[in-house]
Amino acid sequence: MSFWHEKLTIKNLSFPRFIGGPVDGMTDSPYRQLIRSFSPDALLYSEIRHVRCVAHELGGAKALNFQAHERPLNFQFTANSEEGIEAACEKVQAKGVDCVDLNIGCPAKNIVQSGSGSALMADPVLLEKIVKKLRAHLSVPFTVKMRAGFKEVNALAIAQLMQDCGVDAITVHPRLQKERFSGEPAYGLVADIKKKVSIPVFFSGGITDWESARMVYELTGVDGFMVSRGLYGAPWILQELHENSQGREYTVSLETKITTAVRHLELLCAYYGVAGQYLLRKHIAPYLKGLQDAGNIGKTCMETESPEEVKKILLSVLSQ
Ligand SMILES: Cc1cc2nc3c(=O)[nH]c(=O)nc-3n(C[C@H](O)[C@H](O)[C@H](O)COP(=O)(O)O)c2cc1C
Repeated sequence: MSFWHEKLTIKNLSFPRFIGGPVDGMTDSPYRQLIRSFSPDALLYSEIRHVRCVAHELGGAKALNFQAHERPLNFQFTANSEEGIEAACEKVQAKGVDCVDLNIGCPAKNIVQSGSGSALMADPVLLEKIVKKLRAHLSVPFTVKMRAGFKEVNALAIAQLMQDCGVDAITVHPRLQKERFSGEPAYGLVADIKKKVSIPVFFSGGITDWESARMVYELTGVDGFMVSRGLYGAPWILQELHENSQGREYTVSLETKITTAVRHLELLCAYYGVAGQYLLRKHIAPYLKGLQDAGNIGKTCMETESPEEVKKILLSVLSQ
């Protein structure tokens, strides 16, 4: 079987090579349900949550409310100490997550100031303690999502440390903390990591279509291809990539785009109540991208106060 026909396997978990990455505030339960309606078995990630928030069921622990059909689901933790890890692991596993991820790549100021996210890459001693504690309390597969490094590139040493601590797979977004989400990803660094560790390596950064996925494969030889911002307004993208990788075309009609946006609104309202309508606002522009008069249609949707009206405006695009 060719590389593109094989699934990825981590312990008992098997899934296609195209993975739905975490984007805080975007890839919530409603959005994952939408992605799932196109991609029946893709691995999806929860939004990032601090272990203590999950352990003590603070506000953000709502992220633990997911639907069974969102699985396989990788629940993403952040942590800056060992405190709360045992309870958090117990809670997420009791909820039935398929995998747990530790984020050591987040560049956000509030996160790094607390010593978590990408700041952990600069503190391998604390990182090792946290990772070993997580490993000890997890029976599901355990992954880590990292950057090139915090202030300096050290992803290769950290990848080897993660493997030695019993981590089952790693994702590398090969940029430093200061580069945040732009600039040329360090493909060579990931190629090096892939050669030196034996656990699966996923690449994150700039994969939006088959061309970019294939280029990443040629440059790095990684096992998995994570799509994060490429999911905006395109919940079908993982399926599109899968089809393209099998040599098949995949086209999305205007009708599919619009009815998917409407379905997104329905799912947001079902999950968040009335607030759902406002939460659709950040997704509207990507759905309408490329449409004639997209700006005006989007603006009207934003100014409308009822979900029923927003639906009508969206569906009216199909009768124009
Ligand atoms: C607004 C925003 C929020 C993000 N939130 C998370 C997050 O919660 N956890 C995480 O591991 N990565 C997060 N990321 C990083 C992405 O998952 C991904 O690694 C990065 O954007 C590069 O990949 P892309 O070009 O496919 O988006 C976020 C990125 C953005 C732009």
